Amino acid sequence: MTVFLVGAGPGDPGLITARGRELIRACDVLVHDRLIADELVAEAPADAIRVGRERLGQDQISRLLVLYGRRGLDVVRLKGGDPFVFGRGGEEVLALAEAGVPFEVVPGVSSISAVPASAGIPITHRGVSSQVTIVSGHDPDALDWKALACTPGTIVFFMALGALGEIVARLVEHGRDPTMPAAVVASGTSADQRTVTASLAGIAHAAEQLAPPALVVIGEVVRISALLGSRCEMIPVHA
Ligand SMILES: C[S@@+](CC[C@H](N)C(=O)[O-])C[C@H]1O[C@@H](n2cnc3c(N)ncnc32)[C@H](O)[C@@H]1O
Repeated sequence: MTVFLVGAGPGDPGLITARGRELIRACDVLVHDRLIADELVAEAPADAIRVGRERLGQDQISRLLVLYGRRGLDVVRLKGGDPFVFGRGGEEVLALAEAGVPFEVVPGVSSISAVPASAGIPITHRGVSSQVTIVSGHDPDALDWKALACTPGTIVFFMALGALGEIVARLVEHGRDPTMPAAVVASGTSADQRTVTASLAGIAHAAEQLAPPALVVIGEVVRISALLGSRCEMIPVHA
């Protein structure tokens, strides 16, 4: 009787951990995010209760986890990527801890590195980038643009597709080099993966046709994908 916060990985169902898959196969209740691969949801026992996250708000989800946990059921809360990277996993475990419900966090492969990797982009590279800054693009007004524009190394923006034009404008306005390479990787590691690369100044236009989920990578490491070209056996392991 535990609530397990399980990271499902970035999209490809083959990228969940062995422990995560084992827990799904044995659960009484599966509460999953909207973007979780159908193949993973189908791994739960036929008689397990399945709850799709999109029907509920965050507070309702936390209450539901507490409710099922208190009933003594094994609950898997399946979240995209890693539960503790922009996943609101912290809020859920705080609610469980406060309610005295036992829980365990099972980390997942986060899109932070897996999605760029699936496009042949290492987010660090010796002599090129020894620092990565991870940013949510959800609320551009909340960010320190002066600091971001001059931060060295690679910048990875989550949830940034809708505000990409504004993000680029603010970075350039505060001094980031507009000719610096950038990439947008949409639906990384899935069969629908699409990648565009351009200069920072041109990336919003280049990404116009892409749909979420998407990750934006800004920095010299983007050039490495072009060097790899077709010689790269990239990560996607889907057929
Ligand atoms: C709410 S955050 C969840 C992040 C997740 N916890 C993780 O560790 O990857 C959702 C954002 O993650 C990024 N993302 C997640 N999966 C992705 C994928 N397969 N391809 C591109 N971006 C992805 C997108 O920026 C998306 O808007």
